[in-house]
Amino acid sequence: MKRAPRSILITGASSGIGRALALTYANPGVALALIGRNKARLEAVAAAAREQGAEVDIGRLDVRDQDAMRQWIVERDGARRFDLCIANAGITTGLSPSGIAEDPQAVRAVLESNLIGVLNTVEPLIAPMCGRGDGQFAFVGSMAGLRGLPYAPAYSAAKAAVHSYAESLRGRLEPQGVRVSLLIVGFVKTPLNDSIEGLKPFEVSDAQAARIIQRGLDRGKAVVAFPWPLYLATRLARTLPARLVDKIMARFDVKVPETQERVR
Ligand SMILES: NC(=O)c1ccc[n+]([C@@H]2O[C@H](COP(=O)([O-])OP(=O)(O)OC[C@H]3O[C@@H](n4cnc5c(N)ncnc54)[C@H](OP(=O)(O)O)[C@@H]3O)[C@@H](O)[C@H]2O)c1
Repeated sequence: MKRAPRSILITGASSGIGRALALTYANPGVALALIGRNKARLEAVAAAAREQGAEVDIGRLDVRDQDAMRQWIVERDGARRFDLCIANAGITTGLSPSGIAEDPQAVRAVLESNLIGVLNTVEPLIAPMCGRGDGQFAFVGSMAGLRGLPYAPAYSAAKAAVHSYAESLRGRLEPQGVRVSLLIVGFVKTPLNDSIEGLKPFEVSDAQAARIIQRGLDRGKAVVAFPWPLYLATRLARTLPARLVDKIMARFDVKVPETQERVR
């Protein structure tokens, strides 16, 4: 058991899972540093978290902006040493059932937001946390990172890369006293998830997801995967012949809209 975090950085805190995490962690004695782009939504989350007794700083930043991210994060870490960093911000893009290829610009926007944005979030804190021999990184992954989804190739690829990065980092950082947790998330009711048309088995609310994540991170788990039936089914799919899984997946009618985001 590790102690509860007192200074927490959360990206993508203006909506969905990030917002729910901010409100779950918001308590007296806790300092939150919340990153997002939408001013009104970010400020509303900050106000609600302050109501619950937390100290809150907001950073209106694009996670793709490496320099701005480094500067803000290093400055905040100097003021209130982060003991938990949650790389959560992300977007999705994909295909309709008749779609064949994703828009190349949408593909690059997803990789830049969901992979480079994660690197921009954690890199500034690796050396400081290791120097202190204390801290925890949490990476928001996805079931799509375990097995590529035919209707979301770029999203699946970005999440698989995040999974691999988190696993690799864990091997090096944990001997330094810094924990690394990979969150393998199923369907969570959020605006991102609402934009997708299709079956969403075992969907949970954003507040439920945040509680599960907090419990797992408090226990210092290497992997926090939920809901477990979907996790087991996805793990099982990895052991089956690839073409059989392709056939099963082709039966699901899923439509993921193309993101409007473009490379900066
Ligand atoms: N919901 C699910 O079912 C599900 C399942 C598996 C994994 N996930 C992952 O969970 C994470 C959060 O998703 P969500 O469902 O909570 O989606 P959401 O409600 O759409 O929230 C996404 C958050 O990411 C922020 N964001 C996106 N691009 C950004 C950028 N370039 N710079 C700064 N902030 C950015 C958004 O902030 P602004 O709008 O202010 O820019 C928003 O706060 C994502 O990584 C997603 O892939 C979600």
